[in-house]
Amino acid sequence: MKNDNFGLKTTLLEKDRNHLWYPFTQMQEHLAAGPLIIERGEGPFLFDIDGKKYYDGVSSLWLNVHGHRKKEIDRAVTAQLDKIAHSTMLGLSHVPAVELAAGLAAVTPPGLNKVFYSDNGSTAVEVALKMAFQYWQHRGQRDKTKFLTLANAYHGDTIGAVSLGGIDLFHRIFRPLLFHTIQAPSPYCYRCSLNLETDTCGTACAARAEEIMSRRHRELAAMVLEPLVQGAGGMLVQPPGYLKKIRELCTRYNVLMIADEVATGFGRTGKMFACEHEGVSPDLMAVSKGITGGYLPLAATLVTDEIYNAFRGAYHEQKTFFHGHSYTGNPLACAAALASLKIFAEERVIEKIQPKIQFAADKLQSFHQLPAVGDVRQRGLMVGIELVRDRRTKEPFPPEAKTGAGVCLATRKNGLILRPLGDVVVFMPPLCCTTEDLGIMLDILHRAIKETTLF
Ligand SMILES: Cc1ncc(COP(=O)(O)O)c(C=O)c1O
Repeated sequence: MKNDNFGLKTTLLEKDRNHLWYPFTQMQEHLAAGPLIIERGEGPFLFDIDGKKYYDGVSSLWLNVHGHRKKEIDRAVTAQLDKIAHSTMLGLSHVPAVELAAGLAAVTPPGLNKVFYSDNGSTAVEVALKMAFQYWQHRGQRDKTKFLTLANAYHGDTIGAVSLGGIDLFHRIFRPLLFHTIQAPSPYCYRCSLNLETDTCGTACAARAEEIMSRRHRELAAMVLEPLVQGAGGMLVQPPGYLKKIRELCTRYNVLMIADEVATGFGRTGKMFACEHEGVSPDLMAVSKGITGGYLPLAATLVTDEIYNAFRGAYHEQKTFFHGHSYTGNPLACAAALASLKIFAEERVIEKIQPKIQFAADKLQSFHQLPAVGDVRQRGLMVGIELVRDRRTKEPFPPEAKTGAGVCLATRKNGLILRPLGDVVVFMPPLCCTTEDLGIMLDILHRAIKETTLF
C-alpha cells in the first residue's frame, strides 16, 4: 500500500481497532501499541501496509514451511480452484483428498495407514481422543476411558484439547468445563519438577509415567504427548530416549499412544516427523500446521489399520465414528498439501536443512553469554530461549515486566517478527531460510535480548 493511499490506510487501522478481536491477545494493551497489518509475503518475508519488510521468524505461528508465495503451491491451489473449491467428505470423496491420504500414509511412521481429515490442530487432537475412547468401547474394554497427559502440554483450544492441556495460564479458567485427565511430569529439564539433574536423573520423569501406567492401565485409553518438543509449553526439548520409553510403556500396558505432531511435523525437528528420531510409531498421530506448507487450514488424524478395523461393522452395530466438520478435507487445502509433499521430495528439504540446523546451533552458542539467557533449547529449527532475571537461581523476571514481549517488540523494530511464550523467546523460521537469513535473524535477536535486558 503506497503512501498516497494514506486515507485508505487510516480507514484500515480504524476498522482493525473497531472490529477485530485477535486470538491469544490482550486487546487493551494491543490497542494502545497499535496494530501491525500485513499485506503480502514473499519467501521468508512479510510486508506490512507501509511496505516495511520483516523476516517471518515464527513461520506465521509455526505454519509456513517453503516460504510465502511458493509458486508450486500457488499453482496447485489455482489449478484446483479451476476444478472445485469445496465438496463434502461426508459420504463422498474427491481427487486431492485421495491422493493426499496415500501421500501422508507413505511419509508418516510405519503402520499409520488410514487418514481422517479435519481443519486444524485442535480438531485433529479431538478426533484422536474420541477415536481412542470409542476404540476401547468397541473392543469391550469399557473402563478404558481416561487419558494420560503431560504437565506443560498444549494440544489446542477446543474443550477436549484443553482437557489434555497442562498450561495453567491458558487452561486454569476453563477447569470446571473440562473432563478429568491424569498428568505425568513434563520432561522440562531446565526446571525439573522432580528436582533432579539431567545427567544423573535416569529419565525419572518417564519412570513416573511408568508408575502411573502400571497402576492405572485398566482405565487408561491413551497417553497423549507432543513428541520430542513440548511447543507452547516453552519449547521444552525432551531428553534422548524419553519418547522411545513412552512407546515401550504404552505397548507394555496396552495403552494407545497418541502423538500430537501438529507443531513438530513436516520437518521442524530436522526429520519429517519427530517420532522418526527415536524410531517410534504411535497408534494415532495428529498433524496440521505445516501440512499445507502453511497455506490453508487442514489437519489429519492418522491411525493404524487395527484401530480403523475396530470401527467397521454393519450400520446397526453402531460402530460408526460420528464426527466430521463441514470443511473437512477441503480440496484447495489438500491440493496445497500435495504440492508441499512434492516439494519436500523434489527439493530434498529434509537433507538441505541439516546444515542450517547446525549453523543455528553454532550461532546460538553466543546467546549463553548474555546474562539474561537461562536456557537455550533447540531441536531442528525449533528454538526456545528462556530469559531469567538471575541465571544462578533461575529466578524468572516478574510477569509485569513482560520481558519476552519486550524482546520481540525490539526485534520487530529491526525487521524480525517473533512471538514469545511468556519469557521464552521462540524462534521457528520457515525451513526455506538460507543460512544467511538465519544469521541475520539471530543477530537481530541477540541484539534485542542484550538491549532489552540490560542489568
Ligand atoms: C502441539 C500442538 N497441538 C495442537 C495445536 C492446536 O492447533 P490449532 O491452533 O491449529 O488448533 C497446537 C497449536 O499451536 C500445537 O502446538
